[in-house]
Amino acid sequence: MWLSNRHGLLGIFFAFGIGVTPLAAAVQAEGQPAEKPAAQNTCLVCHSHLGGQLASPTGPFPTDVHAEKGLTCASCHGGDPTSMDIRVAMNPARGFRGRPSRQEIPAFCGRCHSNADYMHRFNPTAKTDQVAQYNTSVHGKRLREGDRRVAVCINCHSVHDIKMVNDPTSPVYPTNVPDTCGKCHSDREYMQGYNLPNLSQVEDYQNSVHYRALTVEGNLAAPTCQSCHGSHGATPPGVTSVADVCGTCHAHNRDLFEKSPHRDAFASLGAPGCVQCHSNHAIQPAGEHMLVGPGSICLTCHAPDDNGGQRAQEMAASIQKLDSTIQQTRDTLEQAERAGVDMSLAMSELTNAHSRLVMARTTVHSLDSTKVAAETTGGLRIASEIAEEGKQKLAELRRFREGLALSTVFILGVVLTLYFYIRQNGYLRKEPGGETDE
Ligand code: HEC
Ligand code: HEC
Ligand code: HEC
Ligand code: HEC
Ligand code: HEC
Ligand code: HEC
Ligand code: HEC
Ligand code: HEC
Ligand code: HEC
Repeated sequence: MWLSNRHGLLGIFFAFGIGVTPLAAAVQAEGQPAEKPAAQNTCLVCHSHLGGQLASPTGPFPTDVHAEKGLTCASCHGGDPTSMDIRVAMNPARGFRGRPSRQEIPAFCGRCHSNADYMHRFNPTAKTDQVAQYNTSVHGKRLREGDRRVAVCINCHSVHDIKMVNDPTSPVYPTNVPDTCGKCHSDREYMQGYNLPNLSQVEDYQNSVHYRALTVEGNLAAPTCQSCHGSHGATPPGVTSVADVCGTCHAHNRDLFEKSPHRDAFASLGAPGCVQCHSNHAIQPAGEHMLVGPGSICLTCHAPDDNGGQRAQEMAASIQKLDSTIQQTRDTLEQAERAGVDMSLAMSELTNAHSRLVMARTTVHSLDSTKVAAETTGGLRIASEIAEEGKQKLAELRRFREGLALSTVFILGVVLTLYFYIRQNGYLRKEPGGETDE
């Protein structure tokens, strides 16, 4: 193959290059992004004719975000993109940077992405903290210690095929993130030798209520890996520990937990708060099964007859009562609707009782069963008023129908009586040509 002979190849390019190279091409100052990308891109032209690794960047590059923003190969790699002479085009004296090592990649990308003046010319609100944040993460710290297996920019964003982060085909689009992290974190062989409790983070997360909300319900407010871990930093902005991240979305639960006796009790046990009861990755739908019964998490620390165990039972009982009352009420309303009574107003009022139920479940985090009961009692009152209304409407309907049936029977009776009376008294007209009594 003609490409296999590097020296021969270079000779060909050299010969070709001599004729076309404008030697006056601007040399980029080392360390500074180019002011303006060159109109020509000899890098792309020549590389697209090469084989294997050397050509592979050129295929996807036209739809890479950098190409779409008008940047070229030379914007990242430097060199002279107006020359077809390989010795000019790829001359380190013209700022050419070949393939960066893994250790060099954050700074390679950061040359632009940490430069606010430069980035804001493209997008006035572009963030420029990625490298600084990355340096605080376990990935960034281990990389500086010489670990080449941790994630660098291109493991999460790809290279030569980088997309805007809000593009659904981007590897960091929320629904794609688990697979992107999983390329390493689910690979037993790759992660061998690290002191991690398990490698099931991705699998566990994909089993969670959060993943279902994100993928099945399309709820982009549900967290994926980086919502809890931060995209670049050790934690998301404003959160000091990953274990505290839940409260950024579930603020009410956090406030109640913070005011409950558990805050200090858990701290002295070294227990991590929310995660102690809900786990971190495989979070399941919550319910009374967490309070009482064989799956009770309260009973992992409390005895059934101590204060904690007792409160758990009381809270579960009052929540379950409201839950089943709401269910029965809904059944009554549906029955009435099937019978033809318009119950839409009552149905929408029932959502107020349901809000109380949701609030009661949140209030569990106060550990105060009287506060939970205050919510459930309020809900029960609303639900029973609505149920009463539904029953009344049904009863009215029944009475109306009974009345209707009675009057129908009465009218039928009158008609029949009349008919027989008329017939008996010979008032019926004889049909012409009909029977005669001979
Ligand atoms: C005339 C052909 C030609 C032109 C023009 C050209 N290259 Fe290359 N490039 C090559 C060849 C051939 C190699 C392999 C050389 C080698 O590794 O000895 C290469 C290698 C590279 C590498 C890999 C180097 C490494 O460290 O592994 C990069 C990156 C690169 N070129 C970028 C560019 C950029 C950026 C431009 C434009 C400024 C450019 N090239 C222009 C032919 C060309
Ligand atoms: C956004 C910055 C960026 C742009 C733009 C860019 N590259 Fe690269 N390129 C990189 C990085 C980072 C690597 C190192 C990839 C790796 O280690 O896997 C690289 C690696 C390469 C390599 C070595 C490939 C290998 O596997 O050995 C070649 C060749 C190359 N680039 C050519 C190009 C060409 C040609 C273009 C334009 C079509 C281009 N690059 C545009 C960042 C860029
Ligand atoms: C562990 C994976 C990972 C690594 C490593 C990583 N990123 Fe990101 N990056 C993400 C995720 C996830 C997002 C999306 C954030 C979002 O949706 O809000 C993102 C977003 C971005 C954005 C869009 C603006 C922003 O900050 O949200 C840029 C630019 C970016 N990354 C550049 C980089 C650079 C440069 C590096 C290397 C220093 C890097 N990333 C390393 C995962 C990563
Ligand atoms: C020559 C300067 C330059 C270099 C080097 C560079 N980028 Fe960019 N990058 C940009 C510009 C400009 C944009 C467009 C920003 C915008 O419009 O918001 C961009 C956009 C991005 C985006 C999309 C951001 C978003 O808001 O969705 C990602 C991701 C990204 N770059 C990652 C990288 C990675 C990874 C590297 C290193 C391999 C890198 N960039 C190297 C200039 C550069
Ligand atoms: C290129 C492979 C790779 C990719 C991709 C990757 N990681 Fe990592 N990650 C590692 C390695 C290796 C470690 C080091 C483990 C250690 O030292 O404990 C690590 C460490 C971590 C840690 C710290 C674990 C601890 O407590 O020590 C977290 C958290 C983490 N990664 C999250 C993520 C997330 C979230 C993503 C996706 C957005 C991701 N990683 C993508 C390889 C990767
Ligand atoms: C709802 C928040 C949340 C989501 C989503 C999440 N994590 Fe975690 N993750 C945590 C918490 C909390 C910890 C425990 C941190 C601690 O103890 O400091 C943790 C720990 C880890 C660790 C360290 C090892 C371990 O299991 O303790 C890794 C690695 C990790 N997560 C990767 C991921 C990856 C990959 C994803 C996406 C598939 C992900 N996480 C999604 C909250 C989350
Ligand atoms: C980025 C925001 C966000 C973060 C961070 C977050 N969650 Fe969620 N969580 C949600 C959303 C959205 C839902 C889905 C709500 C729904 O559909 O009912 C949800 C659902 C839940 C549910 C199920 C609720 C139910 O009705 O059964 C529990 C339990 C839960 N999260 C606990 C946690 C815990 C524990 C953490 C921290 C480890 C956490 N969440 C972190 C947004 C978040
Ligand atoms: C002591 C154990 C425990 C701790 C600690 C705990 N929870 Fe809960 N959580 C529960 C129980 C039990 C339920 C179910 C209540 C029910 O439905 O009857 C629940 C329900 C939930 C729900 C669904 C109900 C709702 O409010 O929408 C969410 C969300 C939630 N917890 C988030 C959190 C967050 C965030 C934290 C940390 C601030 C946390 N939990 C701490 C035990 C706990
Ligand atoms: C990780 C262990 C642990 C779990 C799980 C746990 N608790 Fe506790 N709880 C404690 C500790 C420790 C205390 C403080 C010592 C004490 O009073 O028993 C406490 C205190 C309490 C108190 C106050 C007791 C008092 O005498 O004032 C109540 C009420 C309580 N817990 C209820 C619950 C409920 C309900 C659950 C389940 C949703 C639960 N706890 C789950 C460890 C736990």
